[in-house]
Amino acid sequence: MCGIVGYIGDKSAANFLIDGLTKLEYRGYDSAGIAVFDGNEIFIEKSVGRLASLKEKLKGYTPKGSIGIGHTRWATHGRPSDINAHPHTDCHGDFVVVHNGIIENYMALKEDLIERGHKFLSETDTEVVPHLLEEFYKGDFASAVREVLKKIEGSYSLVFMSKNHHDELICAKQDNPLIVGIGEGENFIASDIPAIINKTRSTYILNDGEIAIVKKNSVEITDKNGNKIDKKIFNVSWNAEAAEKGGYEHFMLKEINEQPKAIRDTMRGFIKQIRPSKNNDERIAKDGSSIIFPELKWNPDFLKNIDKVYIVACGTAYHAGLVGKFYIEKLARMLVEVDLASEFRYRDPIIDEKTLTIFISQSGETSDTIAAMKESKRLGAKTLAITNVIGSSLAREADQVLYTIAGPEIAVASTKAYTTQLILMFMLALYMAQLRKTVSEDRTRELISLLKKIPAQISETLSDVDPIKTFARSYGFNEHVFYIGRSLDYDVALEGALKLKEISYIHAEAYAAGELKHGTLALIVEGVPVIALATQKSVYDKTISNIKEVKARDAVVIGIAAAGDTELEKYIDHVIYVPDTDELLIPLLTVVPLQLLAYYSAITRGCDVDKPRNLAKSVTVE
Ligand code: G6P
Repeated sequence: MCGIVGYIGDKSAANFLIDGLTKLEYRGYDSAGIAVFDGNEIFIEKSVGRLASLKEKLKGYTPKGSIGIGHTRWATHGRPSDINAHPHTDCHGDFVVVHNGIIENYMALKEDLIERGHKFLSETDTEVVPHLLEEFYKGDFASAVREVLKKIEGSYSLVFMSKNHHDELICAKQDNPLIVGIGEGENFIASDIPAIINKTRSTYILNDGEIAIVKKNSVEITDKNGNKIDKKIFNVSWNAEAAEKGGYEHFMLKEINEQPKAIRDTMRGFIKQIRPSKNNDERIAKDGSSIIFPELKWNPDFLKNIDKVYIVACGTAYHAGLVGKFYIEKLARMLVEVDLASEFRYRDPIIDEKTLTIFISQSGETSDTIAAMKESKRLGAKTLAITNVIGSSLAREADQVLYTIAGPEIAVASTKAYTTQLILMFMLALYMAQLRKTVSEDRTRELISLLKKIPAQISETLSDVDPIKTFARSYGFNEHVFYIGRSLDYDVALEGALKLKEISYIHAEAYAAGELKHGTLALIVEGVPVIALATQKSVYDKTISNIKEVKARDAVVIGIAAAGDTELEKYIDHVIYVPDTDELLIPLLTVVPLQLLAYYSAITRGCDVDKPRNLAKSVTVE
């Protein structure tokens, strides 16, 4: 996620750009930059760090000009630095571009452009865009933009500015948000409503494939072929605070709803479509798919031959590690230990150069996780970081890094980071399985095709929250809630219980369903809510037996089951269904109602959802 802004009118562009970027900092804050055009020259300033660093660099100077673009970055390609900060330009500084998204085919485009003599300065995917514009420009700005859009693959919201066209900005949208704010004698472009809300409430919310040619007194919207689109004006009724949360009441709810996109973005680029080949190789001709990790620079022999994996993390990331262990053991048939970072570092772990240690951390700044990684390196293991923040301490310390592309997570309770960590762990396990030949090609293809359906299935789950709200209202005032499940359902139960504890302050415990009779059953009395996950087909009957045990003690049992399950509802009070998929992938779906249950329970109890008491988003002390 990044934030982009644009201005065209008679007033100071820089003033709007800085103000707009301030409102968009929640979308990314590792670097920022602006470009302002005074009709002759384009002034560009950019700086690593938060917007305050850019202001510091400007030292109170307001560049002259009434047309400009700006960007606040959340790095995806290229670490946070002055050079990687946007805006980016072509070789001569004639075209300037800001971008939110990922250009998937940038490597091939960049190689081609370099061969044609273009000079690149940054490590970003974005920089290919102004160079392509330079290639295609023959005097018609809009047609050159359309040519560029035909070449690039991936997701984007883009704003283009040209030295040759001092009366227009052009913007385009595909899979990332973009709006045009309509003023009087001035118009605005932004990723999101908060940036423009104190200027105008009349907007065009662009759809995928739309391009807007924005002048100071007009906005023309076309499709990618230049055909005009007659678009309705959307009048914003939110206040500024609600706008920052995309109209949601809390960042947590917004982030829960962002999961389909976060997962799509994280998967992007790692799934390789194998197309039928000319030589009719039978394997390739099956039109299958496989997982690739171009970022992993280890020799595949290392991944093939490691004899043990350690996954180390804290909090929700630790719960993602538990699921990761299941994936790697099941698919790649390798022994995996999972440890809490605060324990691992003092355990004198048994690791050597044939051990792969994986450290999962949303922020990449959790002190225990970083210290554990240092300990692991000292003992000679190879280290892999899975983090959401490019350039974070963990990413810098690790031998290799894989990034979740969840965008900034603001709510203390982690949601979209967890599901993207699961996705990455799943793809890593499948990748290792491919190398070690522990999963057949048919099964790989089947899993990948189901994996691709997950974002849409999460959207489906998110579309029907009423039963969850009702349940939260009825049971939100209980002091104890139990979660039970077997196998992967147990791992998800742990995360569900943590969510409830941290934001609603209800005492919640998760138990492996088979363990109940070894102690916990003593706590199950009439009316106690039990959330029972029963999606793992391989242990389904055994889970049902455990559910009957708690029901026999008059607990109120709410089940989480896969669509098509007709058994569970016979025994319990209520069932929440999620779409059916493979039992390995279903944690990505079952966790969603549990996140929502925690959220609505916290609302019922009047808790501060985004900032729960005593907790911090990132724990940078031991
Ligand atoms: C804190 C947060 C949790 C998070 C944990 C690990 O406790 O409140 O939501 O799971 O830290 O954070 P990390 O950034 O390392 O994933």
